[in-house]
Amino acid sequence: MSDLTRLTEGVRRPLFLTGAGISAESGIPTFRGPEGMWTVGSRHYHPMEMATRAAFERMPDEVWAWYLYRRGFCRRAAPNAAHLALAKLEARLGERFTLVTQNVDGLHLRAGNTLARTHQIHGNIDFMRCARGCGPAVPIPEAVDPDWPEDRRIGPEERRLLVCPTCGGPARPHVLWFDECYDEENFRWETSMRAARETDLLVVVGTSGATNLPLRIASVCAERAVPLLVVNPEPNPFSEIVAETGRGAFLEGTAGALIPAICEALAA
Ligand code: APR
Repeated sequence: MSDLTRLTEGVRRPLFLTGAGISAESGIPTFRGPEGMWTVGSRHYHPMEMATRAAFERMPDEVWAWYLYRRGFCRRAAPNAAHLALAKLEARLGERFTLVTQNVDGLHLRAGNTLARTHQIHGNIDFMRCARGCGPAVPIPEAVDPDWPEDRRIGPEERRLLVCPTCGGPARPHVLWFDECYDEENFRWETSMRAARETDLLVVVGTSGATNLPLRIASVCAERAVPLLVVNPEPNPFSEIVAETGRGAFLEGTAGALIPAICEALAA
C-alpha cells in the first residue's frame, strides 16, 4: 500500500490549510522567499510598514496604490494544478471538504472552490470594506484599473470609487494588517477553529508558519491526535509537529507536484 493511500485511507473530513507557496507556481511571489513581496518590498516603503492600519491612517493613498498594484499582479496570475485539484476535490466531497487559506490572491475561488467552504483568514485583495467598519467586504469596483502600474498614484476617480457603499466614507483594502487581529466576521476565526476540531486529516500546503491562526489550527489537530500531511519544499513548524508526534508525513516538494496526487487519494 502506498504511503499516500495509508495516510488518506478512511479520511472523512480533510481540512486544507494553504499559504503563499501554493500560488508560487502561478507566478505570485511568496512573502518571505528570496523574491518575496516582503523582502523585495515596494519602491518606497517596506511592506511590513505598508500592511498596517497605522500606515493606512498616515498615508491612505500610498497604501491603496500598493494594494491596487498587487491586485493587478494577482488578477494576471492563473490557478495552477494544485488549486484546480482542490476545487475538484471539493466538488467530490461537498460539505466534508474545508479550505482555510492565508492567501489574499483569490486563486482558490477562481479555481472553483466555493466561498462557503473557503475561509480567507487574511482577506482578499480584490475586496474592500468600510474604514469605519460599518459593513461587510465588497468587491473593489471593476472601474478601478485592474492593471494598476506600480508607480501610479491614486487620483480623484479612485477616491470617488473607493468608498463604503453604505455610509459613503473611505473604504480600505479587505486584508488583515499586521497591527490588527483576526475575528469571525471578516476572517472566520471561529469557523476555522471549529474545522480544526472536526477534521480527521490536516493538509498544510506552502506556508512558513509565521502567523498565529494556522499554528493554532495545527496545535488543536495535534492535541486531537489528528495526522498532519505537510507539503513544503523545506521544513517548517508544521513538519516539526509531524516529527514530534510521529503522526502524518512531511512530503518535501512543491504543491504543483504533490497536491493533485493527495486529492486523488482523498477522492478515492
Ligand atoms: N509549493 C509549495 N510550497 C512552496 C512553494 C511551492 N512551489 N514555493 C515556496 N513554498 C513555501 C516556502 O518554502 C515557504 O515555506 O511556501 C512558504 C511561503 O512562506 P511565506 O512566504 O512566509 O508565506 P505564508 O506562510 O503564506 O505567509 C503567511 O504572512 O506576511 C503574512 O499575510 C501574509 O498570508 C501571509 C502570511
